[in-house]
Amino acid sequence: MDLVLGTMYFGTRTDEATSFALLDRFVQAGGRVLDTANCYSFWSSPTGHGGQSEAVLGRWLAANPGLRPELVIATKVGVEPTDDGGPEGLSARVIEREAGRSRERLGVDAIDLYWAHREDRSTDLEETVAAFGALVRDGAVRRLGVSNHPTWRVEQARSIAARLGVEPYTALQLTTSYVEPRPGAHVPGKDHRFGFVTDETVDYLQAHPEIDLWVYSPLVQGSYDRADRPFPEAYDHPGTTSRLAALHILARDRRVPASQVVLAWLVAKGWKPIVGVSSVEQLESALASDRIGLTPEELAVLR
Ligand SMILES: NC(=O)c1ccc[n+]([C@@H]2O[C@H](COP(=O)([O-])OP(=O)(O)OC[C@H]3O[C@@H](n4cnc5c(N)ncnc54)[C@H](OP(=O)(O)O)[C@@H]3O)[C@@H](O)[C@H]2O)c1
Repeated sequence: MDLVLGTMYFGTRTDEATSFALLDRFVQAGGRVLDTANCYSFWSSPTGHGGQSEAVLGRWLAANPGLRPELVIATKVGVEPTDDGGPEGLSARVIEREAGRSRERLGVDAIDLYWAHREDRSTDLEETVAAFGALVRDGAVRRLGVSNHPTWRVEQARSIAARLGVEPYTALQLTTSYVEPRPGAHVPGKDHRFGFVTDETVDYLQAHPEIDLWVYSPLVQGSYDRADRPFPEAYDHPGTTSRLAALHILARDRRVPASQVVLAWLVAKGWKPIVGVSSVEQLESALASDRIGLTPEELAVLR
């Protein structure tokens, strides 16, 4: 199973009972990898602070003793708002403190994959790399990843890690989908300047097969199948029209929703889609994508 379960709204927009049902079903279907962040989801909480998603995961893990060793739990640091409203950033002090808080909320000894959630150019990169490396050295974290950074900064951080002899980032978390917005166009809710997969990302990954790509927001909020969720205006260009035509013909021939073909297409690329779902019905649809198995001819049609 190459799908990751995104838990961004667990404990805020998605109530605890539904969150538990989604986690239960995901694991029952063979899913093992969960994605959260220390800041999920501050914008949905009256407190203006995150932590609800990790706390729900912690209570679910406590209710399911024995599951923990089978799971990969990924969380992030860097975006939780400080009291003055800005992102907390990636200083050594923040990384060390927040790793402790996340482990406490999750109720785990170690975080399986710890992400730098977004860039912090006000902190020296060497300080960030050393702080993440120290967490791995001390056993608080098993693996490191990086989200919403330009490729050149990822490579710079990995070079610094090699020089310091500490654990490097070995995973990227970025957004893309079967259709893409016009270059430079603003996509509402996607405010990370370097959040999108680009041709440069793909080239970098080809040169570094040891680095995984996790794809966030893979279904563009459900736009492929939902009349009530039109694609944002930034997706309005001739490339989208022709790609959606090819996608919908294939989905119709296969008698599956277009969104399932999109997830299968991402997996066929060797990437890990992080699925966001708010009902068991939506989760079942995502899980069904695992059974599609696109043929080489179909992949050639989709490109
Ligand atoms: N690193 C980062 O900066 C970053 C940023 C964003 C997200 N993420 C990660 O990526 C995960 C997914 O992000 P996302 O929620 O933005 O993903 P998304 O794929 O863009 O949207 C998920 C939403 O699409 C709708 N949907 C999904 N499947 C559907 C179906 N079968 N039928 C109808 N509607 C469907 C649901 O909307 P409704 O719930 O409204 O029905 C669902 O909540 C998050 O949980 C988080 O772990 C990371």
